[in-house]
Order: sequence, then structure tokens, then C-alpha cells
Amino acid sequence: MKQAYIDADIKKSATLPTSFYKDPAVFEAAKEAIFAPSWQVACDAKDIAKKGSVYPFEFLSPTLPEPLLFSRDHKGTLNCLSNVCTHRGNILVTEPGQKRVLSCGYHGRCFGLDGKFRSMPEFECVENFPTEKDNLANLSHGKLGPLHFASLAPKHSFDEVFGAMLDRIGWMPLDSLKLFPEHSKDYEVNAHWALYCDNFLEGFHIPYVHPALNEALDFGAYTYELFPFSNLQLGVAKEGEPCFDIPEGSVDYGKRIYAYYFWVFPNLMFNFYPWGLSLNIVRPLSIDKTAIHFRNYRFEDAEFDQTVHNLDNTEMEDEAVVEQVQKGIQSRFYTKGRFSPTMEQGVHHFHQLVNTFLKG
Ligand code: FES
Ligand SMILES: [Fe+2]
Repeated sequence: MKQAYIDADIKKSATLPTSFYKDPAVFEAAKEAIFAPSWQVACDAKDIAKKGSVYPFEFLSPTLPEPLLFSRDHKGTLNCLSNVCTHRGNILVTEPGQKRVLSCGYHGRCFGLDGKFRSMPEFECVENFPTEKDNLANLSHGKLGPLHFASLAPKHSFDEVFGAMLDRIGWMPLDSLKLFPEHSKDYEVNAHWALYCDNFLEGFHIPYVHPALNEALDFGAYTYELFPFSNLQLGVAKEGEPCFDIPEGSVDYGKRIYAYYFWVFPNLMFNFYPWGLSLNIVRPLSIDKTAIHFRNYRFEDAEFDQTVHNLDNTEMEDEAVVEQVQKGIQSRFYTKGRFSPTMEQGVHHFHQLVNTFLKG
């Protein structure tokens, strides 16, 4: 792809060109340039609550399936480590559980739960051993409510990326969020991952694509706010629709908020409702296939309302339109389009970030 130019002024700018969505080399480049520095959900707090807990996971499967693990050592410190033995590359931990040390099942190399090399049989006369390189790589991690995050090569700290969202909704009982697997679901869309994000990033299509949601939202009061690595769409409820009970200290006090739709670059959607959080994780499978993992978390003591059940319909409506766009961008007659300055700030913001990260 020839380097795209996204004007910082939305009134002058055009979207990313279709070559971004169609070129396999750009899809591959995005893995390292966009996803390796990103923050991804690794596990829930309950998975690594106790001292001695270990929890293996892949960073973002299958896009960047880096084998990692979380361990809580005997001092209670949480570590995010490479799950690859520094001897010949065996996977160290295959199941969550309790451990005193991390010992490799191939030739017996041992590491502390902090990832430091401890011992290795038959290496007595090996020169210049062990060195720092024989320890497990130790990664940055962060926490939001019950969710732990990791990053392979962060360009920006966890606080820089998630701070704006936490400032806004820190008054919610985030630590009480509990995963409801029965309401969690996986979807697969026949479209490029960024088309799915483009669609999420504007409420412009709501009156056209989502008739039921349009009944609940006051479209005229819908707003967009941009932060450095995230943005927020505020859905305001019509009279009689469920809304948040917002405390006086919040900048949103007095508003009838139906949902906070936060997006965190590049692929995380945090949809907060009065009952809890619908977290959507977008996983690029291939250039024209994307998995969306919907995880449903509920605040303690919160009642589900009908908005939970509407989520599935809304998702089907979004997928149908995104799959049409996937076909449309193959056209020889379409390369890029212009933005609505009032309704597409979120998409413009995303395209600027994509461009900046791809440039490195
Ligand atoms: S690969 Fe781990 S000890 Fe050999
Ligand atoms: Fe939608």
C-alpha cells in the first residue's frame, strides 16, 4: 500500500484507501505495527487470585498467538512472562494451576514464578551460563476491574491507553464485574477486522440499520468524544428506557445515559450498560475473516434488562452491513470516501491511528 494520507482535519480528510483492507502485505504488517504494541485481555482476576497461581494464554489468537503466562509468586506479586523455555523452546505451562516453580517438561530447566532462571541439569561446565537471556521475558501488564491485560511491545503505557476511560467511568463498581459465560458468545464475520471497527465507531448508521436500538436512543443527543488512544460514543436514552443512575461527581450527572460505548485502539470495545459490560474483542483471522468475542460481565446486584437480549439482534444487523461493505470495497469504482464531520469523528480518529502506527 502506498502510504495513505489522513488529513487531521476531518473536513478535508478521506477514509483509508481500499488497498489498506485488500493488500495481504498490509494485513501482515499490521500484526507487528498495530497489534504487537496493543493491550489485550489476558485473564480474569479470579484466574490468578492465589499465591502460586499460574495461568497460560496466547496474546491474541490466532492473529499473534504469542505463548504467555501470568504467575502470582509467593510474595503475591503478579508477573506476566513468556511461556517458552529458554533452553530449546518448549511450552512451559499448558494448564492453569498452582505451582512452586515453573519446571520445563522437556529437559528439566527450572524458573521461579518471577521468571528468573533457577536450575538446569547437565549444564555444569557450560561457559558464561546462566545469563539474563536464560530468564523468561517479563512483560508489562495492567488491570481494569476484574480484567488483566498484557502487551508484547507497548508503545504507550496501560494508563495512557486506558486512563481516559477509567477517569470517566471510575465511579462504576468495576471490581464487582463478574463474567457470565452463558451470555458470552463468539461471532464470525466475513470481513476485514478494520471494517468491523469502522462500523462500531459511528452511530450514524443506527437509524438505518438498527430499528430497535433507534427506538431506545435519542439520536439527536448522541455524542462523540476522542481521547489519544480511545474514544467514546455516548448513547442517551429516550424517556422510559433504562439508563444509568449517575453520581453527582461525574461530568455526566443529570444525563440519561443508555450506554457508554468505549473503543480502545485497535480492537477492544467496552460497552457499559446499567447492568454491566459487554466487552467485544475483535480478532483478525485473515484479510476477509474476523472473529468477534462477546464477553458479558454483570455488576453485582444489577438486574439484566432487555438491552442484553437486543445485543444479539444488533450484532446480526451490524454483521450484515459490514459483509456488504467487504464486497463493496472490492469494486474498481470505489477507493475511498469522505467523512461526516458531525457523525464520523470516531472513524476518522481510528484511521489516523492506523496510519500513525503503520508508519511506525
Ligand atoms: S526445552 Fe526446556 S529444558 Fe529443554
Ligand atoms: Fe451498529
